[in-house]
Amino acid sequence: MEYVEIARSESDRGELVLRERRDENAPTAIELRANGLFVMDTLEVSTERALASAALGLVEAPRAVVVGGLGLGFTMHEVLADHRVEKCAVVEIEQALVDWMRAGTVPHGPALLADERVTVVVADIAVALAEAPRASYDLILLDVDNGPDNLVHDTNAVLYEELFLETARRVLRPGGVLAVWSANPAHELEHTMATVFGNAEAIGHDVLLQDRDERFWLYVARVTSET
Ligand SMILES: C[S@@+](CC[C@H](N)C(=O)[O-])C[C@H]1O[C@@H](n2cnc3c(N)ncnc32)[C@H](O)[C@@H]1O
Repeated sequence: MEYVEIARSESDRGELVLRERRDENAPTAIELRANGLFVMDTLEVSTERALASAALGLVEAPRAVVVGGLGLGFTMHEVLADHRVEKCAVVEIEQALVDWMRAGTVPHGPALLADERVTVVVADIAVALAEAPRASYDLILLDVDNGPDNLVHDTNAVLYEELFLETARRVLRPGGVLAVWSANPAHELEHTMATVFGNAEAIGHDVLLQDRDERFWLYVARVTSET
């Protein structure tokens, strides 16, 4: 296995690295790492896509969607493939990552961001949603950490707490859905979502990851007339 660094940046949150992984037994992949922690690669992206497709299937008319965490754009790609979507705001905390996607450092980036339905916001998703008008989205997709128990940044802990979930509920329209990705079961998150929304569901998603069977999770909650 050989790694070749493609790009590197420093921000208040530390180091962000994009590198190519070359393996004679597997296709070449691009990896994203934050402070040494593996965030994702371009090889196994079925769960990033599943986050979007499962959640889009739960909303009758997902016209306005917000994606929390651009990453390498796979969740957003799935959102844009849905022709019901008229507007997709993607909120990414790292300016460098947006720049790499725009510049083609990540080869599929420019085409993805050129879609006229896309608005890129460089901000913390907690701040972006707090500033969003009430009832402005049909779907919020959150994939910023490896899950509530495996944070990319310690400050993201607030995203799984009642206050932020209430903000998410406020910006969703009636029938709107919040979907949160997690690598591990997150019972406390499910409980907090149920407290805020009056409902919550865990959807397991099985993947084969480098010959290992793994299960990832989506936590979904919906704005109903009772919430
Ligand atoms: C796991 S990746 C997202 C992967 C994405 N779903 C995809 O399909 O490529 C997580 C992304 O969230 C960003 N991020 C982390 N914390 C954030 C926050 N509080 N607000 C916005 N973006 C954040 C990271 O910089 C990273 O780009």
